[in-house]
Amino acid sequence: MRGIHFLNIPTSLLAMTDAAHGGKTGVDHNEIKNLIGSFALPQRTLIWTDFLSTLPQKEYENGYAEMLKHGLISDRDLWNALSPTWVEKEEIAPFLQKSIQIKTEIVEADPHELNERKKLNFGHSTAHAIESYFLLKEQEVSHGWAVAAGMWVEAELSEMKCQLSATEKNEIASRLQALYSFELLKGIEAEELHSQLLNDKKNLNGELLFVLLSEIGNAVVNVPIDFHEFDRAWMKCFNNA
Ligand SMILES: NC(=O)c1ccc[n+]([C@@H]2O[C@H](COP(=O)([O-])OP(=O)(O)OC[C@H]3O[C@@H](n4cnc5c(N)ncnc54)[C@H](O)[C@@H]3O)[C@@H](O)[C@H]2O)c1
Repeated sequence: MRGIHFLNIPTSLLAMTDAAHGGKTGVDHNEIKNLIGSFALPQRTLIWTDFLSTLPQKEYENGYAEMLKHGLISDRDLWNALSPTWVEKEEIAPFLQKSIQIKTEIVEADPHELNERKKLNFGHSTAHAIESYFLLKEQEVSHGWAVAAGMWVEAELSEMKCQLSATEKNEIASRLQALYSFELLKGIEAEELHSQLLNDKKNLNGELLFVLLSEIGNAVVNVPIDFHEFDRAWMKCFNNA
């Protein structure tokens, strides 16, 4: 069915705000996520937020993290609207529309992720390491929760490396903690994530490359990070250092 035309009709918040846009398709193979895939755009994406009425709260919170991310990388007003308290499903439509617009504008500017599109990976270097860590333990965690944790760690790194102000870093930390509980991460030492961090597709020649923030609403791509810096950021978040 190569080249077949298709529509996307997402029913989860994650799919509405993220997966249904941008043309990335993927199939897991040999226990590796998205190993086989291509870029293929739908003819049209149809969004009907009434689907959300039956979506479990946990799944809602999962997609919500990607909307928060869109605010942090590109739109302070969206971030302010979505935090520090949840916007209910019945009220989400205008913010969802803004969130989708952010994703589609970034994708249109850089469909094959050469530069600008990498911004969409804010929080994800750490999130993927957290998800792989729990996968090895056969413990299921939600992607959105891992992204929320990753955005906190990467806000700490942003303060260290990209002049994110302490005020904005603290704002990100406190609002994310108001929305999500990170108790599960408290006992984990940063070193336990090192090997998973090295697997990130954004890295180049074994160097860790992160997407960080210079301020709320502006992301910077390809920032080199060493393990020592990552460990300090992780400890500040989850080991109370
Ligand atoms: N292509 C991309 O750019 C991109 C971006 C982000 C995520 N993804 C991928 O998307 C997938 C996750 O998407 P998802 O969260 O939609 O997964 P999903 O389809 O597994 O849905 C999550 C759960 O919610 C249930 N559900 C969905 N809509 C519902 C509704 N309206 N009412 C009640 N239950 C409902 C599903 O049955 C499922 O149990 C992952 O595989 C991820 O890798 C792709």
